[in-house]
Amino acid sequence: MKTSFGPQKILFPMPTTLVVTGNMDNANIVTIAWVSLLTSAPPTLGISVGTRGYSGDEILKNRNFSVNIASVDIMVEADFCGITSGSEIDKFKETGLTKLPSNHISSPIIKECPLNIECKLVSSTIVGRTNHFIGEILEVHMDTDKLRDVENPGSFIAEACNPLIYIGGAREYRKLGKKVGDAYSIGRKLKKDYFS
Ligand SMILES: Cc1cc2nc3c(=O)[nH]c(=O)nc-3n(C[C@H](O)[C@H](O)[C@H](O)COP(=O)(O)O)c2cc1C
Repeated sequence: MKTSFGPQKILFPMPTTLVVTGNMDNANIVTIAWVSLLTSAPPTLGISVGTRGYSGDEILKNRNFSVNIASVDIMVEADFCGITSGSEIDKFKETGLTKLPSNHISSPIIKECPLNIECKLVSSTIVGRTNHFIGEILEVHMDTDKLRDVENPGSFIAEACNPLIYIGGAREYRKLGKKVGDAYSIGRKLKKDYFS
């Protein structure tokens, strides 16, 4: 049996990201959970940013942004950046988070986030009161101490990264549980015709 609802409260686990736009002298942080990798070739990522906040216009002005995955360690700072506006305060100053220069874009990345993605704005479309920005991924940075093998980005240690998960609908933060299987592989058990 199922209980059905409208679209207003969808229990949806999402990564909590901190999106930075601006430059090393003047940058803003906004908490964005509505984020997704979109295509691998070219590598793109999409974020949904409300048109009423400060960040949407800043992204359009700067034409670039960085997406920084928040860890559980900076949950308070991440939440703060989601309930305050860059139109009123300097969120880097208030949170104590550290700007590091990006390699390809003006917007800095955040040192305290284990994974940082530099994006160049390639498209924006307004749907309702939200701007859907598509960024081309120019470079990805990972904390070296969270990689098993520094040559291999796939060797990222999820437990060390400790990403802060936001459960939309329930408005709560969670952390990752244990690994339960290998993707693109565990399902082979059911492909009897092909693999037996
Ligand atoms: C956990 C969390 C997730 C959020 N996700 C989004 C989001 O995906 N898109 C969005 O527009 N706002 C989101 N917000 C709200 C913005 O972060 C918030 O409106 C912020 O104050 C805007 O800041 P700004 O005016 O500096 O741009 C989120 C807030 C929180 C706490």
